[in-house]
Amino acid sequence: MKRVYGLIALFLTHFHSNIVYAQSTTKQLYDNQIVSASVAISGFNYYYFGVSATNQLFSKRDLPTIHLSTTICKQPAAPADFHDTVPPLNLYVSTSNTNTLPGPKNSAAVNNSSNGLITWTCDKVTSEIWIAVAAPALTGSWAGNFTYEIGVSTIQTMHPIFINNEKKDDANIPYLILDDTDRNNALFLSSPIRNSSQNSTLLVTSGVPVELSHSLCAAKQRALPLYNVNTTTTHRGSTNNIRQQFMVSNLTQDTYYTAYMLQSVGSVTGITTPINFGTKIDANCQIIYDLSFCDQVAYSVPTGLDSFATTDLWTLARAYDAQAQQKFEPFDTALSQYNCDTTQYSLVRNCTDCYRDYKTWLCAVTIPRCTDSSASADLSQGTDKAIVAPALRDISTNASRNPWIDESLKPGEWTELLPCIDLCYHVVQSCPPFMQFYCPNADLASVQYGFWQNGVASVNGTTFHFDINNPTCNRLGVDPALLTIGSGNHVYSPYLLIFACIVGVLFFTS
Ligand SMILES: *[C@@H]1O[C@H](CO)[C@@H](O)[C@H](O)[C@H]1NC(C)=O
Ligand SMILES: *[C@@H]1O[C@H](CO)[C@@H](O)[C@H](O)[C@H]1NC(C)=O
Ligand SMILES: *[C@@H]1O[C@H](CO)[C@@H](O)[C@H](O)[C@H]1NC(C)=O
Ligand SMILES: *[C@@H]1O[C@H](CO)[C@@H](O)[C@H](O)[C@H]1NC(C)=O
Ligand SMILES: *[C@@H]1O[C@H](CO)[C@@H](O)[C@H](O)[C@H]1NC(C)=O
Ligand SMILES: *[C@@H]1O[C@H](CO)[C@@H](O)[C@H](O)[C@H]1NC(C)=O
Ligand SMILES: *[C@@H]1O[C@H](CO)[C@@H](O)[C@H](O)[C@H]1NC(C)=O
Ligand SMILES: *[C@@H]1O[C@H](CO)[C@@H](O)[C@H](O)[C@H]1NC(C)=O
Ligand SMILES: *[C@@H]1O[C@H](CO)[C@@H](O)[C@H](O)[C@H]1NC(C)=O
Ligand SMILES: *[C@@H]1O[C@H](CO)[C@@H](O)[C@H](O)[C@H]1NC(C)=O
Repeated sequence: MKRVYGLIALFLTHFHSNIVYAQSTTKQLYDNQIVSASVAISGFNYYYFGVSATNQLFSKRDLPTIHLSTTICKQPAAPADFHDTVPPLNLYVSTSNTNTLPGPKNSAAVNNSSNGLITWTCDKVTSEIWIAVAAPALTGSWAGNFTYEIGVSTIQTMHPIFINNEKKDDANIPYLILDDTDRNNALFLSSPIRNSSQNSTLLVTSGVPVELSHSLCAAKQRALPLYNVNTTTTHRGSTNNIRQQFMVSNLTQDTYYTAYMLQSVGSVTGITTPINFGTKIDANCQIIYDLSFCDQVAYSVPTGLDSFATTDLWTLARAYDAQAQQKFEPFDTALSQYNCDTTQYSLVRNCTDCYRDYKTWLCAVTIPRCTDSSASADLSQGTDKAIVAPALRDISTNASRNPWIDESLKPGEWTELLPCIDLCYHVVQSCPPFMQFYCPNADLASVQYGFWQNGVASVNGTTFHFDINNPTCNRLGVDPALLTIGSGNHVYSPYLLIFACIVGVLFFTS
């Protein structure tokens, strides 16, 4: 039975005589359905939803939870002199049939609204709701209407959003991590796949207004017209789970974009919160990944200036991987001569840990991470110890720490994002003392390693956010929880300072 509320709506119009109605009929919403609509500036659209519409009979004490959500897809075009954020649509909800035209005069606007997503949930107290979607009054020469989606369900929200948070890995909430970019590519890693039929996709957008950044329909309207995503699975990451990785290609150099991961939840599509990223300027950094030995490498590495466009990333990846594996051999031989099975050198670590941590360290120092010379406007660890900054080191021509890079690839001058010093400490902690592996102390450490920092720094009016997606040092897939959050003041275990610099420093000069 379809209910028609149009007559009631027209009848009650005079209560809001100062409001222009874009539409004075009340439309019915159906369970688990998303409706797209538009509303003019200052306009109201009215909806009705009743659980009887689901063709189920709910007894009074058996009412369902009602999930209502709206996303703003498009805003009217602002006048030239408008530089603010555009105010959002408002949602008014009534649960009483004595108020079938909710609005500012008789109800409060739904307050759970941010970045273009408005949600309202009602827990088992009503079987009917009356809804108004109200567009703000805007003065000046605005052009066009607001467009939006509205959906209601007794099962789940029709517009799920997943807050990116890799720290809650066990919470079963999907998240997305940016590995790195180069001039034309960006590589992303998903949260662990929980369900073998999980099939997330990546959406790359440009120019989504920040006030609509939690709206999937807004993101879809701003999707890049031409880009390519190679989606594969991988075991890399801070846990051994299977994850999806997304290699985005065909991007423009020195350009900012926003990425979302889309994942279905039942019959609807949810999105992660956005990740903003920029492609690099320098041509001598190229992303490599899926290495068989250094399997945690998934970032830009120095490459030949001439070869960026011509060298296949897989050829470059194999070349780096082969020489890292070759450098690992002496260690492998040494460790195999130690009787790991019978000699316990630590209560908490064994040879498996030593092998893993040495390999991680070795991959990080033989396969350096490359970044833009102008990255972060010359912010660098060591210049001002009070600010959060990346650990950058400018490498002159023929001065790469690993000489193989200059001999084989000839990158010229390039900039390294230094390995996190924790990778060195982990070897000291995990390996038998007879290996005499030490980490450099404070002064030398800051030349060769960086500290993991999270936070914000502003330089010349530009704000940089440092976090897992824009790291201050190369962690090589290690869980950030295992990295010392360091300030430039070298906040780390004092006992490590007693070690002189031997193996960790002289590796390539011996
Ligand atoms: C939103 O409104 C509810 C009641 O309707 C109130 O409990 C809650 O504190 C409000 N939240 C905010 C952020 O204002
Ligand atoms: C507010 O909206 C967010 C996003 O949809 C949702 O996760 C959260 O549970 C809502 N909060 C409340 C109090 O309804
Ligand atoms: C905006 O909405 C009004 C009323 O709903 C409609 O008459 C008008 O054609 C719409 N304009 C655009 C550009 O869609
Ligand atoms: C996996 O996801 C599909 C579709 O989302 C669902 O039908 C299925 O029940 C899920 N399987 C498990 C084991 O969770
Ligand atoms: C995942 O989804 C994409 C696009 O929807 C499709 O092309 C691909 O075949 C799907 N993969 C699997 C394993 O279902
Ligand atoms: C890459 O971009 C070019 C133009 O910029 C376009 O012609 C080409 O189709 C794009 N390729 C893919 C796979 O999107
Ligand atoms: C996609 O990536 C996989 C490795 O993850 C690679 O083997 C394959 O060649 C790539 N496909 C394309 C079209 O680049
Ligand atoms: C090392 O310890 C882990 C547990 O911490 C264990 O699973 C592994 O088998 C041990 N390896 C060796 C070589 O003893
Ligand atoms: C800030 O801008 C000024 C003038 O444009 C420039 O000289 C200076 O180097 C900039 N500082 C940094 C840290 O980029
Ligand atoms: C770098 O080394 C190559 C070969 O060893 C040499 O030809 C070139 O002149 C060197 N460049 C600089 C700037 O030292």
